[in-house]
Amino acid sequence: MDYINIALPKGRLGEKVYEMFEKIGYGCPAIREKDRRLIFENEENKVRYFWSKPSDVAIYVERGAADIGVVGKDILLEYEPDIYELADMNLGKCRMCVAAKKGFRDNPEKTLKVATKFVNIARSHYAGKGRDIEICKLNGSIEIAPILNMTDVIVDIVETGTTLKENDLEVIETIIPISARLIANKASTKFKAEQISQLRRKLQEVIEK
Ligand code: PRP
Repeated sequence: MDYINIALPKGRLGEKVYEMFEKIGYGCPAIREKDRRLIFENEENKVRYFWSKPSDVAIYVERGAADIGVVGKDILLEYEPDIYELADMNLGKCRMCVAAKKGFRDNPEKTLKVATKFVNIARSHYAGKGRDIEICKLNGSIEIAPILNMTDVIVDIVETGTTLKENDLEVIETIIPISARLIANKASTKFKAEQISQLRRKLQEVIEK
């Protein structure tokens, strides 16, 4: 039997996801050793895990380095990788929002300046409304942009809302709810069809509704 290669997002979400895989019989005890290794395998149940940067999981899966992976819906919407989405893990729940300084009023006669990491999501959101925008692509700490009047709004992920609150910003629109998704490489779903569908079935049983 071939190994099944699984790309997990490094961090708290990835650890929760690994626990679910362990629960359904895809454990890999070496992964619990706190070292800096990024690849772990268990010869017994033929499973190999990679810890990858969350935004890179879909790249490994799309290219077939990983057969399956777990990634936020935000990444799937932003990059539209050529993969299959197999299940909603019902984890890592948050929402993609537009936020601005408290009391911000949009002036429709002016181009709206938008700071974001999620350029495509922001573009399609405003294209749908026919609103002219100018994007300022940032890589993190997006909240700073409207505070310093560099942009009018941000398009970003809101989980607890604490970051916005502590920076005197507020949500002005929710674009879409986000959660972690199980994804698969397209060819792997053919060549490892039985392994992948079995894993998916077992996972469905432990996904909290
Ligand atoms: C994300 C997001 C917000 C924050 C929202 O940032 O960009 O800044 O989390 O969470 P909250 O609503 O619970 O406060 P992340 O920590 O991923 O870092 P980033 O600034 O590099 O995007």
